[in-house]
Amino acid sequence: MMYTSKMLLSLAAAFSLAAAQSDCVYDVQSAPFHLRLTSDDARLNDTLLVSVHAGPPFRQLVSDALLKENNPNYNQSDISVNFYYNTTSTNDPSTICLPGKLHWAPEQSWPSVFGIESSLASNVQPVIVSPMQGDGSGPQFDEEGKLYQLARSYSPVNTEEESWSGTNYYKWFICATVFGNYKYADALTWVSGGLPDGKNCRAVNVTREWA
Ligand SMILES: *[C@@H]1O[C@H](CO)[C@@H](O)[C@H](O)[C@H]1NC(C)=O
Ligand SMILES: *[C@@H]1O[C@H](CO)[C@@H](O)[C@H](O)[C@H]1NC(C)=O
Ligand SMILES: *[C@@H]1O[C@H](CO)[C@@H](O)[C@H](O)[C@H]1NC(C)=O
Ligand SMILES: *[C@@H]1O[C@H](CO)[C@@H](O)[C@H](O)[C@H]1NC(C)=O
Repeated sequence: MMYTSKMLLSLAAAFSLAAAQSDCVYDVQSAPFHLRLTSDDARLNDTLLVSVHAGPPFRQLVSDALLKENNPNYNQSDISVNFYYNTTSTNDPSTICLPGKLHWAPEQSWPSVFGIESSLASNVQPVIVSPMQGDGSGPQFDEEGKLYQLARSYSPVNTEEESWSGTNYYKWFICATVFGNYKYADALTWVSGGLPDGKNCRAVNVTREWA
């Protein structure tokens, strides 16, 4: 499902580490924040990502400004703009944990975690926030507050990537997606390699902005 955990698991195997990330507890919660998009597409630039329904218990992340344009009847009280990031207090050196979990709606009884749905059919992978994502895709924020995924490619796509430690990737795109019965014109996705083969994809960055 996610490159980071695969990479960490490979590393764990390589170094014969007994404990896996399932032993990790992500119990240190950040303050609430918003996720702001930057893009060369002026309609997307400087808009916020909001969590919208995609068939319970799944949520997708869409641009609030374009949602208002495309779905003017969307139930406004169902939109959620606050996100949180949990890190682990586990500091057992034999336990390899993901850097953290990005999540939405801690007031819900089920934690709803940010993950990336992989597909064998397309390199455009929708971001889905749900309780089914396990520990999630382990995204991180850089020193500018930009969201990235630490990942490793197994073919020399990135010639600077020479070690198991991987590279920071910022392969976020807003694309048209179809997830179950839900079709959003402007949903956050991750594009694994090359140019997106999906519809209406525009490169973006996603930046944390404390609420
Ligand atoms: C985040 O941490 C808080 C405080 O420990 C905890 O109540 C919550 O369940 C955690 N959320 C997730 C998604 O792990
Ligand atoms: C995006 O928005 C920011 C803030 O309003 C602005 O400074 C920047 O020039 C915009 N970029 C583009 C490509 O429109
Ligand atoms: C709108 O969303 C809120 C929060 O999810 C929900 O409680 C309410 O029932 C919804 N209203 C309608 C008309 O669907
Ligand atoms: C996103 O940010 C990264 C890191 O700063 C940068 O390399 C990349 O060009 C940016 N992408 C877009 C679409 O602005």
